[in-house]
Amino acid sequence: MDFGMKNRMSKIFNPKDGKTVMLAVDHGYFQGPTTGLRDMKNIIPLIPQADCLFVTRGILRNCIDPKIETSVCLRVSGGPSILGELSNEDITTSMEEALRLNASGVGMSMYVGAKNEDRTITNLGRLINEAERFGMPVLAITAVGKEMVRDARYIGLACRIAAEFGAHIVKTYYCDGFEDVVAGCPVPIVIAGGKKLPEMDALKMTENAIRAGASGVDMGRNIFQSDSPIGMIKAVKAIVHKGATAEEGYEIYQKNKKSAISGIDPNMEKV
Ligand code: R5P
Repeated sequence: MDFGMKNRMSKIFNPKDGKTVMLAVDHGYFQGPTTGLRDMKNIIPLIPQADCLFVTRGILRNCIDPKIETSVCLRVSGGPSILGELSNEDITTSMEEALRLNASGVGMSMYVGAKNEDRTITNLGRLINEAERFGMPVLAITAVGKEMVRDARYIGLACRIAAEFGAHIVKTYYCDGFEDVVAGCPVPIVIAGGKKLPEMDALKMTENAIRAGASGVDMGRNIFQSDSPIGMIKAVKAIVHKGATAEEGYEIYQKNKKSAISGIDPNMEKV
């Protein structure tokens, strides 16, 4: 890895512990104004808590203050909406744009076991070829085909393929036997949170993933759809960066929720 690539990776993964809390707010690229993201102002107080913001160029340009210290990983794939065939994605944002927006990484989905499996995987190869010319890390997102069971065998297959094609980071879903997924993937893995879960379950999943060797999270709905998004991101951060347990994380979440209700911290009322 050259300086540029290493430098960008260090903006995504905290160099002190090699871990990351990425805040995923890209859902609108196929879901439209998703619950929690309709008004992007709700996201602003969460950004300083994250190491990296995973976002599309449209939201970045229109809703995010360019002075933020949090790094940016840009979603560069898309095409179909939630009403279409989701695997029918292509690269939609150029490398030039990623560089202009000062992104520290770019991310795209690949669909193992779905209709357009081969095209999305070869697109990943092409994106990596181009990204490496500029020292730009690529995050491969292992989106799951509808018929696929999310077990360690399938998730392990998808993550390994992403790494074999040269992805620098892989984002996937947590599953039982996650240690095996991590063991078979030579690059850092971050987990997506998936659909909104009760807060304690989401924190347990985070703790289990970190214990199994995940390098962090790229989490969205379980943070911004919580009744205390700021409490949740702080709790996730404590688990990822401080080795806190889910129970300790839950206390952080509850404390923040209570202070927001009692109005102790006015910033928290906004989220
Ligand atoms: C899919 O919509 C995106 O890649 C999200 O960034 C990813 O699924 C993480 O978000 P969540 O934690 O809501 O699953």
